[in-house]
Amino acid sequence: MENTASKMPPARIESTDFSIRKVFENQYQRFENHSQYMNPQLPKVLKTLGFDKSYVRGEAQYLWDQDGKRYLDLLSGYGVYNLGRYHPVIVKTLREMLDLQDANLVQMDCPHLTGELAKEIIQRSPSGDRVYFTSTGAETVETAIKFAKATTRRDRIVSLKKAFHGLTVGALSVMGNEEFREGFGGLLSGCEQVAMNDLNALENELKKKDVAAFVFEPIQGKGVFIPEAGFLKAAEELCHKYGTLTIADEVQTGMGRTGKMFAIEYEGLKPDIILISKALSGGLVPTGAVIASDKIFKSVFSSMDRCVVHSSTFGKNSLSAAMGLATIWVLENEGLIEQANVIGEKLIAGLNAMKPEFEMLGEIRGRGAMIGIEFISPRSLSLKMGWNLLHTLDKSLFPQMIIIPLLRDFGILTQTSGKGQDIIKLLPPLVMSDDDIDYFLKSFRTVLELAHKFPGGLWDLGKSLAKASLSEKAS
Ligand SMILES: Cc1ncc(COP(=O)(O)O)c(C=O)c1O
Repeated sequence: MENTASKMPPARIESTDFSIRKVFENQYQRFENHSQYMNPQLPKVLKTLGFDKSYVRGEAQYLWDQDGKRYLDLLSGYGVYNLGRYHPVIVKTLREMLDLQDANLVQMDCPHLTGELAKEIIQRSPSGDRVYFTSTGAETVETAIKFAKATTRRDRIVSLKKAFHGLTVGALSVMGNEEFREGFGGLLSGCEQVAMNDLNALENELKKKDVAAFVFEPIQGKGVFIPEAGFLKAAEELCHKYGTLTIADEVQTGMGRTGKMFAIEYEGLKPDIILISKALSGGLVPTGAVIASDKIFKSVFSSMDRCVVHSSTFGKNSLSAAMGLATIWVLENEGLIEQANVIGEKLIAGLNAMKPEFEMLGEIRGRGAMIGIEFISPRSLSLKMGWNLLHTLDKSLFPQMIIIPLLRDFGILTQTSGKGQDIIKLLPPLVMSDDDIDYFLKSFRTVLELAHKFPGGLWDLGKSLAKASLSEKAS
């Protein structure tokens, strides 16, 4: 008799009743649904800023709204879209994966693609022997904290002021922005933040010999602050001296963003643990990777008994791994890592060229396609009045006064870079064209011209933002 159980069944695809296209037909309800069923503050904030657009399509560096208006996306989903949206290789890979119907998430299995991706990552990583996969950036941070504690048998973690490492409890404990911690009660004990570039403060903590790890971003995402040359190398040496592990959080800076595959390559660092996520996903399937030494893996997974002592259900997702493999291929074969530098140099040069004309334009910082534009208090009396008034009412409003007209009048999506900072941030997809760069620079110049006219110009917008902020505080 024929063994029918051993025959592979045909793929099941047909189901006619459910159509996601039909769900999309109700797009006009998106803000109502969020107001009613999700975090109701988000639609309120978007409405106040005039950011309540109904984006219906994305491709490469562009978005389109329901009226067919095109937007240039310089936010990249907080750094997810290094390749731009729906890169053809990413789409082809995902389609192939769906057609293949790979035996995904069997769990009691060693999936082929995750192993392949681990190998490709290790071949490119400045340090590390093994990879643990996660689904998000914060999960990579949580994992690194646990791995560091298990390896050193120490409890404390030191990080840098102004750092951002994610919003889960462990990540929040090493967060350098107080406002995110407020209201969430007790976090991990013994976590300390020291100022960037302050080696004495760091050594004072490390000297206590109870610090499991020093965690840092090679370039801080909030504000785009770049450590002084040599600081991270010296910090690494201090950590070695006192038996503390180093964790480089490359969740945002990794995967070509700064003009190298890993930003730590600029300083020749060899961290004990490196974290990547965001762009590794190709923008479609969430993923993250914790790259660590064999010694660290052997400390955590110390016996067969402890084989799954740290794991997560979606960690070894073949779809994520396929996206990671395709992302690395595109970055390297389409020269996008070099392109990050080309884009960054043109943007920074164009922005610096505007400085003599605009007194509120301060430092332009960045590496590759990760750029911070800082605004500074003006010298001229009338502008100073507007600046002081706005800052007295709310220290976070000025950069909003810049990003709002960029979107409203020019269809350019950017972000402010953290509460209480006069900084906006550009994270363009690495496929941004020369025309896009020219368009951004021209548009930004017009916005600056308006911002430098007081009274009038953009300051009426500032006034209405201040009013909205005051009435929110009062309510
Ligand atoms: C440097 C860094 N680490 C960690 C995270 C957290 O990543 P996720 O939002 O995926 O949890 C972020 C997110 O912006 C980040 O920029």
